[in-house]
Amino acid sequence: MGDLFAEKAEDWDRRDRVKALSRDIGAAILAHIPVHEGMEVMDFGAGTGLISSQLAPLVGRIVAVDTSESMLERLMAKPELVGKVKPVCRDITAQPIDERFDLIVSAMALHHVPDTRLLMQRFAEHAKPGGLLALADLDEEDGTFHPADAQGVFHHGFRRARLAKLLAEAGFGDVRFTTVHTVPGEGRGYPVFLVTARRVQ
Ligand SMILES: C[S@@+](CC[C@H](N)C(=O)[O-])C[C@H]1O[C@@H](n2cnc3c(N)ncnc32)[C@H](O)[C@@H]1O
Repeated sequence: MGDLFAEKAEDWDRRDRVKALSRDIGAAILAHIPVHEGMEVMDFGAGTGLISSQLAPLVGRIVAVDTSESMLERLMAKPELVGKVKPVCRDITAQPIDERFDLIVSAMALHHVPDTRLLMQRFAEHAKPGGLLALADLDEEDGTFHPADAQGVFHHGFRRARLAKLLAEAGFGDVRFTTVHTVPGEGRGYPVFLVTARRVQ
């Protein structure tokens, strides 16, 4: 599969919907996770770095994982992230990274990964014992959030109870959900959750 975000990367940071989402998700992560300057963080599906940018001044180091070269190029063009955020263009479900993290965050990327159970297992493998997780994505929706012909969309959001079960099976405890944003749509809204969890020791 090619780089599905190549075109989107060009104006990603200027999109109002993206700006509002990343602002609220970033704020929610900071409200729920006690970040500190020693933290080693993975930003999964980091894109152009809209979440990494909010965390970078407050943590030790961030590894920005994404399968889109174009999105990561935009991330690395941000001078304030150079030296603090390391881009890794890789599908970690197929090819894990040989590193463990204090915190794994992700914004709006889970629905692009076919096998959610495997992804939660990979997160557990990449987390230090006691490491924290903060994942944001859509609650289950009727398939109208993305255009009908959108490629690389494998889930129409998530049922919280199912995700909680997959997290528990992967070895995470303290699983908590909160609604952090609602994306406005035609006569409706699409709620976005943040789930936080801790890898069991
Ligand atoms: C909706 S964008 C969100 C980007 C960023 N987190 C933000 O909030 O602006 C989804 C991102 O997930 C990335 N992605 C899709 N599949 C992926 C995978 N298997 N592994 C890592 N990243 C992936 C895409 O390339 C894209 O950058």
